[in-house]
Amino acid sequence: MTAQKTILRALAGEALPTPPIWMMRQAGRYLPEYKATRAEAGDFLSLCYNPELAAEVTLQPIRRYGFDAAILFADILLLPQALGADLWFVTGEGPRLSTITTADELAALKPVDDIDEVLSPIYETVGILSKELPAETTLIGFAGAPWTVATYMIAGQGTPDQGPAHALKAENKAVFEGLLARITEGTIHYLSKQIDAGAEVIKIFDSWAGSLQGDDFLNYAVKPAAQITAALKAKHPNVPIIAFPRGAGEKYVGLHSTIGSDCIALDDGVTAEWAAANVQTGGCVQGNLASSHMVTGGETLVAETKRICAAFKNGPHIFNLGHGITPDADPENVALMINTVRNG
Ligand code: CP3
Repeated sequence: MTAQKTILRALAGEALPTPPIWMMRQAGRYLPEYKATRAEAGDFLSLCYNPELAAEVTLQPIRRYGFDAAILFADILLLPQALGADLWFVTGEGPRLSTITTADELAALKPVDDIDEVLSPIYETVGILSKELPAETTLIGFAGAPWTVATYMIAGQGTPDQGPAHALKAENKAVFEGLLARITEGTIHYLSKQIDAGAEVIKIFDSWAGSLQGDDFLNYAVKPAAQITAALKAKHPNVPIIAFPRGAGEKYVGLHSTIGSDCIALDDGVTAEWAAANVQTGGCVQGNLASSHMVTGGETLVAETKRICAAFKNGPHIFNLGHGITPDADPENVALMINTVRNG
């Protein structure tokens, strides 16, 4: 019997002497080998839907750095595309989608039973990875949380304050909640299929949870995540779930139990010391290092990395950034972070 993978041990609640480590957006434009494979694929979406090349970019940071987990290379906006939204990426700007703001547009979305027509290459990527990853590396599948996915589907693009989604919530709650329900149902199907194909852990990205206040946070961030988590646990009781309600701030407290997830991922808006006392008491935590340190490096990077490790050392902890690494990051700084986590 091989010893259980370190990420799975942390997710099961074990405090490890050295925290396992991976990094959001670890396959990305800061790596020259990623840029080369992306050029070979043509564009970002062609890369996502090419199982051989998507598996290749997923493996690149594992080969270069030996991270403890690999995250499937895909995007949270593939699900809206599978539901029938048009999706394209404008270079230097980001995603664009056809919008859903009326009952007719909501009704015109494809049924969840049809989404695999678009998403089957993603399951194929997962299958390749589960064969090719080193035995000690955990494979993480993911999806966007319903609120975050809805903000893009309603606005047709990224927005600084998620204004269009908040407006639809205020003006046409039936369409807004109908859209969230459809995304929730699609997400359960999509994640379940990723698990069938070999994903060992699931992460739910709620990048814009921080703009939901009061009851809205409960109804549109916590409840959909809890619903997805419960549905996945019913089918796949041994697959741990990481929830990432980015920007939750003080609302991070208690989320392990309200969402039912095995791990709560933290952005860099809370201190590790506060999160150790108030969030890690509920279970495993992940994240927290500001991704700007991957650009600036040096002694500050080393000191902050050590501080986070020290704050979380008495409980289950997976080292990660507070948000994705940016294209201007220096690959050398990633090596310095990993070396600091593993060797002090
Ligand atoms: O973490 C990983 O490495 C796994 C793959 C992954 C990507 N996107 C690849 C990607 C994951 C988990 C995501 C999640 C995602 N996608 C989120 C949630 C997490 C977060 O960052 O807040 C969101 C909001 C999206 C939507 C999205 N995709 C945006 C807004 C953009 C454009 C911004 C940018 O960085 O250019 C993308 C594109 C995207 N997704 C890239 C990558 C590597 C860059 C595409 C490229 O190569 O040009």
